[in-house]
Amino acid sequence: GGAGLVGATAGFALGRGPGSQGTGTGDGGLPRRDLDGANGPQTEPFFGTHQSGVETPTQAYAHFIAFALKPGIKAAEAVRWLRLLTADAAALTQGQAPLADSESELAVDPARLTVTFGFGGKLVALAGKEHVPDWLKPLEKFSIDRLDADRSKGDLLLQICGDDPLTLAHARRMLFKDSRSFAEVAWQRDGFRRAYGSSGEGKTQRNLFGQLDGTANPGPGSEDFARIIWGQGTETTDPVFSARGEPPADLGAHLPAWMRGGTTLVLRDIAMNLDTWDKADRPAREFSVGRTMDTGAPLSGKDEFDVPDFTAVDERGLTKISQVAHIARARDGLGPEVQIHRRTFNYETGAGGDSGLLFASFQADIERQFLPIQRRLAEVDLLNEWTTPIGSTVWAIPPGATEDGYVGQELFE
Ligand code: HEM
Repeated sequence: GGAGLVGATAGFALGRGPGSQGTGTGDGGLPRRDLDGANGPQTEPFFGTHQSGVETPTQAYAHFIAFALKPGIKAAEAVRWLRLLTADAAALTQGQAPLADSESELAVDPARLTVTFGFGGKLVALAGKEHVPDWLKPLEKFSIDRLDADRSKGDLLLQICGDDPLTLAHARRMLFKDSRSFAEVAWQRDGFRRAYGSSGEGKTQRNLFGQLDGTANPGPGSEDFARIIWGQGTETTDPVFSARGEPPADLGAHLPAWMRGGTTLVLRDIAMNLDTWDKADRPAREFSVGRTMDTGAPLSGKDEFDVPDFTAVDERGLTKISQVAHIARARDGLGPEVQIHRRTFNYETGAGGDSGLLFASFQADIERQFLPIQRRLAEVDLLNEWTTPIGSTVWAIPPGATEDGYVGQELFE
């Protein structure tokens, strides 16, 4: 299945906050809630086993905001901060204004708002150094990296996603206000995909190179997803496993006890050079990835979701998918455990400005899943000609909070 499956209307009826029952009028003088088909009332759950914003069908917009703890912050203050953020994120995602909200009307249409918390090593260490997992540190340096140190740090990450940019801006401001006495903003990045409703449900998004991006992701809700991202194997006898064979059930083994129900995030900020990409013709573009530009089908097949055949040869006896094409390097010969969930967002800062991908990769085990892929891509990948990693961070994604708890409670208590 593809990423970018736009969520069904799960939660549609549940998502009406107190403010949404009113009889106010919209821009055209219509009663707001008579706007048939508007996506504003749609919600994603906040509380639960897992945090939302990972398996959640990817929304149209994302704000990533990384905070650096102020000097002298101790565990008790961190807990106070996390409680505040949890309470406000929980309210905002359900279309309810937090108590201190001075623009409460902006909270009314959540449009599938999610707030996903990521913890860095320094925040975790406030609860005790022994709780910091060994993988929670910057990735090893890759030859392709041109990292900006200012974009490669932070102690707490908020990944704020939703289908409405105004709602997102408001949520970011509220959560920023909650944070001012505890932390400084280390960096922030904004990304986007297709606007809600513009290309229909279930369609894979395109990135700024024009490629379909997300085709080979594990499908949300699948047994693959549970194993590959949550590291939670189940004993079902009828799994819908991927074409690569059954991913092992022990991928969560390197998640510490406080992270059960959580996962890991590697966030790479990857610049894409649109000027040099413009100079590559269509066959060169397709050759570099191993898929066609129009349908996204592997060069060995016809449809987007055909399983790539890396042994198929053309009339000259050459493999149809080059061994140095991106998908061959990212997949061919790697075991069923070496899979990730890519929840990527485009960014661009205007004509002649920066363009790229906020490459958010979720996986239960960085060492067994992300690194084998990234090491191979750094070694050889035709796509490297046009892409440059400029930011890189690693985050522990704690489990979801309980209704009377807060995100990170398992760590601090
Ligand atoms: C697949 C683009 C960076 C891992 C793909 C595909 C495209 C693509 C077009 C094929 C369609 C799909 O399955 O989504 C890009 C671009 C990148 C980038 C433009 C940078 C700007 C990365 C990085 C990694 C990665 C950094 C991991 C370290 C993968 C994987 C697949 C994939 C695992 C699926 C392979 C398969 O199983 O078929 N990428 N990618 N990509 N990419 Fe990337």
